[in-house]
Amino acid sequence: MIAAASSGTTGPTRLTRTMRPDAVPFLEAAAGRPAPHTPVWFMRQAGRSLPEYRAMRGEGSILDAIKRPDIAAEITLQPVRRYGVDAAVLFSDIVVPAHAVGFGIDIAPGTGPVCAEPLRTVADLDRLPELDAAGHTPYVLETVALLARELPVTVPLLAFAGAPFTVGSYLIEGRPSRTYEHTKQMMHRQPELWDSVMRRLGQHAVESISGQLDHGAKAFQLFDSWAGALSRADYDRFVLPYSTAVFEGVAARHPHAPGIHFGIGCDHLLESMVAAGPSVLGLDWRTPIAAARHRMGSDLIVQGNLDPALVLAGTEVASAGTRAVLADNGAHPGHIFNLGHGVQPNTDPDVLAAIVDLVHTMTASTP
Ligand code: CP3
Repeated sequence: MIAAASSGTTGPTRLTRTMRPDAVPFLEAAAGRPAPHTPVWFMRQAGRSLPEYRAMRGEGSILDAIKRPDIAAEITLQPVRRYGVDAAVLFSDIVVPAHAVGFGIDIAPGTGPVCAEPLRTVADLDRLPELDAAGHTPYVLETVALLARELPVTVPLLAFAGAPFTVGSYLIEGRPSRTYEHTKQMMHRQPELWDSVMRRLGQHAVESISGQLDHGAKAFQLFDSWAGALSRADYDRFVLPYSTAVFEGVAARHPHAPGIHFGIGCDHLLESMVAAGPSVLGLDWRTPIAAARHRMGSDLIVQGNLDPALVLAGTEVASAGTRAVLADNGAHPGHIFNLGHGVQPNTDPDVLAAIVDLVHTMTASTP
């Protein structure tokens, strides 16, 4: 039986059934089931906004820090301790598989992923062999295994990978881009090469995510951060089949692991992103949660979607924004609270801590 449980005078009420006492908030919400409270985590919760991250990370390439399981595990745990978030996200990066197979990609501080020799021809594909997670990225699996031992059961570890389009855009452009001109040219002028690149990067994503799930991660996010640069027609033709293959490939190996599909500026693509087969749709701040459910069904499970810029404006503004996101969700059980994109480097950690407390307080259900 469904009964309404009040969460106090300030919070929205939520519908709740009898909950298992050992319910893990993130996993309940990801399945659309009532949770003890709405789970919260933040994309880029580990990173430059934390003084303890800057102290731990030191100088040098982030890719070197990722290769040290003790350091990578500690950085992953820092925001869990500081904020009391409901999920940990592995400290790694979407370019790690391409780097690990030897493509020749690095992350330049303040710029992002860069390749000296971008992927432009069939011959360049030779530099992008298939990924063997255990052989190429043993350090990632070791970090995951360390975290699976250290994290409380109520805080699942999230695996992730970049979607074929977003990783491909870095390999093909050779650096972050606003126009994606080489990427779009390859789609349209060399469709066979494009197909090969997308299949290969899809194999990387499936293998990388499955390796993380094998070693103790409980759910995953596929980041297609820059897919919003495409028209719906180009997304459907040149991206959707390959992202669908990623969700299918992971499901074949881990049928119970929920997957989140996320991109920025993707309002015009959301129906297609859902068609790719995720359990949860990640929203940026441009799309109201209620509007997404109106378009795609009232049972849509969503993640999001506070504008990260509001977090920079201080606790009062961020709290008002948080209340507005919760009101937009309307006490639907299928909601994972997050920002609409990653934490900005100059964010005040105390504001993020206040958001976590506010979400937990406002959505706490009385069993
Ligand atoms: O979310 C987390 O806390 C987990 C770790 C994580 C990182 N990158 C660590 C990182 C995750 C999930 C990512 C994903 C990622 N990496 C994406 C998708 C998410 C998004 O933001 O859209 C993308 C596009 C990348 C590529 C990338 N890596 C960029 C654009 C940058 C920023 C470059 C810069 O210096 O401004 C990176 C570097 C990076 N990856 C940092 C972190 C913490 C910051 C640099 C550092 O600490 O040296």
